[in-house]
Amino acid sequence: MILMCVPFSLHAEDGHNLWLRRESAAPVNVVCSKNSATIDIAKQELHQGWQGKTNATVVLAIKQNKFIRGDGYMLSTYGVQANTDLGILYGVYAFLSHQQTENPIRDVIISNPSYERRILDHWDNLDGTIERGYAGRSIFWRNGRDSLVVTEQDKKLWKEYAHVDASIGINGAVLDNVNASSLILTTEYLNRVKSIADVLRPYGIRTYLSVNFASPAVIGGLKTADPLNPEVQKWWKDKAKEIYGIIPDFGGFLVKASSEGQPGPQDYGRTHADGANMLADALKHYGGIIMWRAFVYSSSGDDRAKQAYSEFMPLDGKFHDNVIIQVKNGPVDFQPREPFSPLFGAMKRTSVMPELEITQEYLGQAIHLVFLAPMWEEFLKSDTYQEGEGSTVARCTDGSIFPQKYTAIAGVANIGLDTNWCDHPFAQANWYAFGRLAWNNQLSSIQIADEWLKLTFKPTTLEDKTKLTVLPTVWNIKFLNPVKQLMLESREAAVNYMMPLGLHHIFSANGHYGPGPWWAPKWVRKDWTPPYFHQADTAGIGFDRTQNGSDAVSQYQEPLRSLFNNVKYCPEIYLLWFHHLPWTYKMRNGRTLWDALCYHYQEGLDQVREFQKIWDNVKPYVDPERFSVVQSKLRQQCVNAQVWKDACLLYFQQFSRMPIPYDIERPAHDLNDLIQNDIRRR
Ligand code: GCU
Repeated sequence: MILMCVPFSLHAEDGHNLWLRRESAAPVNVVCSKNSATIDIAKQELHQGWQGKTNATVVLAIKQNKFIRGDGYMLSTYGVQANTDLGILYGVYAFLSHQQTENPIRDVIISNPSYERRILDHWDNLDGTIERGYAGRSIFWRNGRDSLVVTEQDKKLWKEYAHVDASIGINGAVLDNVNASSLILTTEYLNRVKSIADVLRPYGIRTYLSVNFASPAVIGGLKTADPLNPEVQKWWKDKAKEIYGIIPDFGGFLVKASSEGQPGPQDYGRTHADGANMLADALKHYGGIIMWRAFVYSSSGDDRAKQAYSEFMPLDGKFHDNVIIQVKNGPVDFQPREPFSPLFGAMKRTSVMPELEITQEYLGQAIHLVFLAPMWEEFLKSDTYQEGEGSTVARCTDGSIFPQKYTAIAGVANIGLDTNWCDHPFAQANWYAFGRLAWNNQLSSIQIADEWLKLTFKPTTLEDKTKLTVLPTVWNIKFLNPVKQLMLESREAAVNYMMPLGLHHIFSANGHYGPGPWWAPKWVRKDWTPPYFHQADTAGIGFDRTQNGSDAVSQYQEPLRSLFNNVKYCPEIYLLWFHHLPWTYKMRNGRTLWDALCYHYQEGLDQVREFQKIWDNVKPYVDPERFSVVQSKLRQQCVNAQVWKDACLLYFQQFSRMPIPYDIERPAHDLNDLIQNDIRRR
């Protein structure tokens, strides 16, 4: 009643502090026998964020404990224990997070990282633009005459960035785009990398670089970049020496080679193993690693989804032990839903790491509210069956099953110079979710959403709290629960309006935003166009990857191979990923395939409309600034979902020649208009 009668609004927030909004802290005594830059940060965090009893004493103890692994930690009512300084810092962040989410520590909690290396890949170009970046320009690079001058403003921002990463356990950053410029390895650029590394180091973040395989020829003056050429090998060794001379804890290289036009060992008739091992040898002495990407496919005519497996499996066991093969979660390219890449669990004698895409390239970019944790949870929990039941992707990559020398996971970053780092306030949740899952690959999306919402939206000032605590649980009931539900449904909604039933990669042009099932200009490679993927004709729709088709199913271990191969058993979420089916095919619920598609598109649109209502309803519990940004983005998402539905139904109806079911809303657009305007849309 009081809430309804008294008009008020909460303090405006620009989102810059993400999930680290500091409440006014109570005084606390911190006891620690050690000093270091990292421990100093841990102490400072406690002083600035303490929400426990006034003048309580917190002990930070660096003491070996056999149950604590790596930079893990143990929390108790006394404080934090860890094996390393960094473990203490992570423990302190966890301690404060427990306080802020009103989840007090009553018992002893031990938390160990699932992966040793938890890395953000920044696809930042040296001119300051960001490939697939939707939140402004790079925080590391810029154009212009002073582009390499390191300013105090730069250092402040890098420090803030490091602080945020460390708070969720991220411990590595690749500073430049995988489509790499050789310039990054010139002394001028390396000096800037050193400045960045110096700021990130106390927060436990190692610096890595994407490198261009042709660098010895492009900037080194050599005639070749052939990995078996001794001069080339020496060039890389000298470069490694130079890098480690200025950045002693440099993490290593990320390499996109012989992929999408990037140079690589295949230019010289060599294999991926030849290329990766040559670089691995150059860094070995310093403890550096090579993250070699398996994102490869050519226009050979073979099913694109099969090519990485076909190319890398014969090389299993041939890579040196400081090489990790970095594999995208799905076999095609970061679609809203893909089955896991069959390389997971199949490469048994090679270290393999997952690559996730935090930036929402194919998931509505910075416009759509799509919480990605449910997608990553689905992926990590997928059973590969490679070593019997329970061989989940998580266990196949975190060292539980295979004795990998290094374990790692990478996420393509979604941040830029925008005040709130990510543009969409809810895109911040994806950065948070990546860090949390990299730390603990068993976490549930529900828990992550719950934590993030509390940390990001719960009122922090006394005044705001007083306004909202009219009833003790009012915020939880009115804001937390409905918005959490919205977040948890948001990925499935995007799948419904963008790629129901496994119908993938039907985006328009290279923007990867709106629908373009028709998009197939003559000059574009077939495997870059939607018709290659949807294969729609009057007989049906979908990509036949069964044993009668491209046989991609055979890359999976049994029982998945048979399950995916048999249309009766194939999970319907992957139906058109693996099968080409007639429009009249009967779904499990008795509907025809065509009708099922219509209902999915409608459901996606309805879900977004519901999200709008939920959000409008939480207005009293959100500061006006973030409220209106999200409200306006949801409007655009709704318009887009309508366009997706109309475009796909009208386009595919030309082939199905079947009516749209009576209870589905009629399209609001004309197909020709959509096609005409296609190229101009984002
Ligand atoms: C996608 C993306 C490209 C990127 C590539 C990669 O295809 O659209 O921008 O370079 O993935 O992962 O290398």
